[in-house]
Amino acid sequence: VSIDWEAEADLVVIGGGVAGLTAARTASLRGLRVLTLSKGGATDTSTQYAQGGIAVVAPHGDSVESHVHDTVEAGAGLCDVDAVRSIVEGGQAAVAALTDLGAVFDLGRDGQISRTREGGHSTRRIIHAGGDATGAEVQRALNAAGLPVLFGAAACEVLTGPAGVRGVMALSDKGFGVIQAPAVLLATGGLGQLYALSTNPPGATADGVALALWAGAAVADLEFLQFHPTVLYTPGGLGRRPLISEAVRGEGGILVDSEGDSVTAGVDPRGDLAPRDVVSRAIAARMRVLGTDHVYLDARAIDGFPQRFPTITASCLAAGVDPRTDLIPVAPAAHYQCGGVVTDPHGRTAVPGLYAAGEVARTGLHGANRLASNSLLEGLVVGERVGAAAAERLGERDRVTEVPARVIERAVRGVLQGLMTEHASVVRDRAGLDEALKRLKDAVTLKDAAPQGETTRDADEARAGIEDAALTLTARALLLAASARTESRGCHTRSDHPEPDDRLRHSMPVRLDEDGRPRLD
Ligand code: FAD
Ligand code: SIN
Repeated sequence: VSIDWEAEADLVVIGGGVAGLTAARTASLRGLRVLTLSKGGATDTSTQYAQGGIAVVAPHGDSVESHVHDTVEAGAGLCDVDAVRSIVEGGQAAVAALTDLGAVFDLGRDGQISRTREGGHSTRRIIHAGGDATGAEVQRALNAAGLPVLFGAAACEVLTGPAGVRGVMALSDKGFGVIQAPAVLLATGGLGQLYALSTNPPGATADGVALALWAGAAVADLEFLQFHPTVLYTPGGLGRRPLISEAVRGEGGILVDSEGDSVTAGVDPRGDLAPRDVVSRAIAARMRVLGTDHVYLDARAIDGFPQRFPTITASCLAAGVDPRTDLIPVAPAAHYQCGGVVTDPHGRTAVPGLYAAGEVARTGLHGANRLASNSLLEGLVVGERVGAAAAERLGERDRVTEVPARVIERAVRGVLQGLMTEHASVVRDRAGLDEALKRLKDAVTLKDAAPQGETTRDADEARAGIEDAALTLTARALLLAASARTESRGCHTRSDHPEPDDRLRHSMPVRLDEDGRPRLD
C-alpha cells in the first residue's frame, strides 16, 4: 500500500461530534497531542441535528436513582446497571463543563434552566437549547473551542500490533496517510444509512463498528436499532428525514391515526409518552391494520408552537404542513443504534489503546432500548473520560512499519438499504432475516484489497467504498444477532417470537473469525 503522508499524535480522535470533540478537548487540556479526524465538515454530525435535549438529573423533584430507574426500565433487562449509574452520575458535571464552554440552555420564566419531558422519563429532566435545536448549540459550543480538526479525512483502518494500537490509516485530500499513535478513539456516530429512511446524516455509515471489528474488538446489541416513532412523513425520496421531537408529545401533542383515533390508547398506560419502541410498534401495527404508510401528530393545541419548536416548524412548513392548523404526518424511521463497540464506562475496549464513545459505543447504558435524550449525555460523560483515560497509553510507542492489505466485501448501498428496510425494521421474523442474509451474500459485488486507493485515487469514490464496506459488514453482524435473538425485547421485535425469553437476557457479542466473517461469541 503506498502511503502519501504521515503524522504523529498521542491520541487520534475519529469523529467531530459531541463525543469526539469532548474527548479531544479533555485530552488536550491534559497536555496530550491530539489529532481529530472528521470525514465531513464541522456540522456533518448527528449531534448537530439533536432536538429534544440532554437528559440530566434535575435539582428538584428528581434523583440519580430515578433517572437510573427510568433508563433501566426502558433498557428491558439488558442495561449494565453499574454503567448506567456511573454515566447518569456524571451528567451534571458534564453539562456544567459544556456551559463553561459557552453553551446556552433555555431558561424558564423563573430564570432557571427549563426542562421538558420525553417518552419513558418519569419527570421533566430534559434540558434544551434554542427550543428544539439543542444539538446545534452543543455542536456550536464545541466547535467554538477551536480544537484542530482535519476535516474531510476518513479513517479507514486502525493499525495494531502485539501491544495494541499503533496508529490509524486515513484518507484525506492528500491521499492515504498513516498517523502513528498509541491511542485511538472511535467517535464515529451511528449507522442510520443502513436503512432507506433515517433521521441520521449521510455520514452515519457505521464506520466505527467496522473499524473496531477489523481491529479485533467485539460489538454487541446491534440488533437493538431504535426507530424514532415520529419522523416527518413525505412520500418518496431517500436520505435524512426531519425529526419531529418526542418533546412535542412531552408538551401535549397526541398521536392519531387516519380515522382520528388515538394510536396508543390501550397499548401502554403511559400512552404517547411510553418508551419509543412501544410507540413505534403501536404505529407500525396501526399502519398495518389501516393499510396506510403514516399516522398523524396533532400538535394544534400547543401554545406558541413556532417559538417552542422553530426547527420543526421550519421543516414542516417546507413540506407544506403548518403545525398550528394541520395534523403532522409522521412514521417511524431508523434513528439510533443502541449497541455498538463493547466498552467499559470509560470507553475502553478489549484492544489496548482502542477506545469508543458516543453512539458507536456499547457501554451498557442503553441496553435493549435507549431512553430519549440519554445519548448526548453519554457522549459528554464518556467522551470526557476517554480524554482522561488515553493518557494511560502515553508510554507505548510501537510504530507502524507496514500497512497490511485487507480483503473486504461490499454491496451496492441501495440494495443493502432495501434489504435492511424490508427485513430488519421495526418488526422482524426468521424468514425475513434469513432472506436478508442470503440476499446480502449474493449482493456482495466487489472484493478488494483495502484500501481501495490501490485501484482508484479518486477520494470520493474511495471514501464511498470504505463506507459501503463498513455498512456491509455491519449489516451482516446486525442480521446475525437479530436472527439469533429469538425473542422480543426492547426495540428488537420478532413476530415469530413475540415474548421476551429469560434465557436470552444477556448481550450477544459478535467478533470476526479467522476468515474475517462476523460470528457470535
Ligand atoms: P456524531 O455526532 O454523529 O459525529 C460523528 C462524527 O464522526 C462526524 O464528525 C463524522 O464525520 C465522523 N466520522 C464518521 N466516520 C468517520 C470516519 N471513518 N473517519 C473520520 N470521521 C468519521 N440524542 C439526545 O440525547 N437528545 C436528542 O435530542 C437527540 N435528538 C436527535 C435528533 C436527530 C435528528 C438525530 C439524528 C439524533 C438525535 N439524538 C439525540 C442522538 C444523538 O444526536 C447522537 O447519538 C449523538 O449526537 C451522536 O454523537 P457522536 O459524537 O457519537 O456522533
Ligand atoms: C427527540 O427529540 O425526540 C430525540 C431525542 C433523542 O433521540 O434522544
